[in-house]
Amino acid sequence: MITVVGYDGSPLPALALERLAQASLVVGGARHLSAVPLPPGARTVVMGDVTAALDEIDKELGDRAAPSRNAADEGGVVVLASGDPGFFGIVRALRERGHRPQVLPALSSVAQAFARVGLPWDDALVVSAHGRELRRAVNACRAHPKVAVLTAPGAGPAELGRALFPQHPRVFVVCEDLGGPDERVTRCRPAEATTRHWRDPNVVLVLDERRPAEERGWIAGARPGPPSWALPEDAFEHRNSVVTKAEVRAFALARLGPRVGDLIWDIGAGSGSVAIECARFGAAAVAVERDAASCERIRGNVRAHGVRVAVSRGEVPAVLEHLPDPDAVFVGGGGPDVVRACASRALRSVVVALASIERVRPALDALTAEGLTAEAVQLQANRLSPLPGDVHRLAATNPVFLVWGERNAGPPPARAARPARRPQTLAELPETDQ
Ligand SMILES: C[S@@+](CC[C@H](N)C(=O)[O-])C[C@H]1O[C@@H](n2cnc3c(N)ncnc32)[C@H](O)[C@@H]1O
Repeated sequence: MITVVGYDGSPLPALALERLAQASLVVGGARHLSAVPLPPGARTVVMGDVTAALDEIDKELGDRAAPSRNAADEGGVVVLASGDPGFFGIVRALRERGHRPQVLPALSSVAQAFARVGLPWDDALVVSAHGRELRRAVNACRAHPKVAVLTAPGAGPAELGRALFPQHPRVFVVCEDLGGPDERVTRCRPAEATTRHWRDPNVVLVLDERRPAEERGWIAGARPGPPSWALPEDAFEHRNSVVTKAEVRAFALARLGPRVGDLIWDIGAGSGSVAIECARFGAAAVAVERDAASCERIRGNVRAHGVRVAVSRGEVPAVLEHLPDPDAVFVGGGGPDVVRACASRALRSVVVALASIERVRPALDALTAEGLTAEAVQLQANRLSPLPGDVHRLAATNPVFLVWGERNAGPPPARAARPARRPQTLAELPETDQ
């Protein structure tokens, strides 16, 4: 009953033309409806609001089911959509309504975009800011060397450029109206993208050309997670053993839950071990540290691990004002004021590592005051350590309290002191590169 025809600017295949010729209802964007031959007498619905268009389809098919109508005399319903309608397209919404459409796909705009610049894209991350929040797409671009962004008006090349400039040196390839009369492919820097007018629709390739090309992989998109994590302390340069112990880091990472599209703050980062492990999971990460020498050390560790982490030198909480909201925060150093400042901004969770028992209660209170559900545990690992004579002793690591808070579903509490809009950029932070 429903045929979904993908359109990429090339002539439609015979079957698609046949279905169109027989259609009684054709639904599609204005640009698609004007580009294909419509049968005389067919009703057309311009797809602006998807829900309204789906209602029209349901109504058309529902009417046919009425006993007074002869379904055999009716033409079909054709839905015109861009590229491959099964890829971030209308097929999902149709199936959610119980339809089982036949799909005649064209080339996806993402495939066309990479083809225009002659790049392979099995290693590219494809993200959508179309009808979704831009921040996840931005975080993916912060962390990954090759990202294709499906855009939307108000969440396009200019907004992406604003979020990534100046601290993320990237190359944008903006592909406007691919396959259409206004096709234009432009290579530019994020700064330039902010000042230009871009035509819709467009897709943006965000490339980190300073990173070596990915090796041939076996899985499309983001690389699978790291082969191991909670790395030993000696995987990081550190000063006087100031590095979160592997066993403690393991539990902290479990509560932080770093993923592609997330932004994680590592506060009082020391060696940067937590930020680096989060980046290895595919998250964007910022290491916040007041000490200049530690910042240098973090940069060295980041380079050694081949990931991207922004390093922010400054005093917490003042420095946090310049950072975009995080999904999760690790607080390796700081009192209750720091914990509370982080909790007021965290969208998902905050994990605090403490050495002294007296600081546990204030940390719990700071988390709950900001609407998080707080818990705590004391962790201590006894590592097996070899002794002469092929025997072992237990070598105790220092006990540490981990206090964590999780935000239950729902937005963070409104606070009078918070500015209405947080910065989306990591302004002034030099990204640590390889
Ligand atoms: C809802 S998604 C649909 C993606 C589509 N299914 C595909 O495979 O290309 C809409 C977004 O796709 C991108 N897009 C679709 N057609 C395009 C075109 N001709 N040129 C550039 N981008 C296009 C734009 O980012 C647009 O906002």
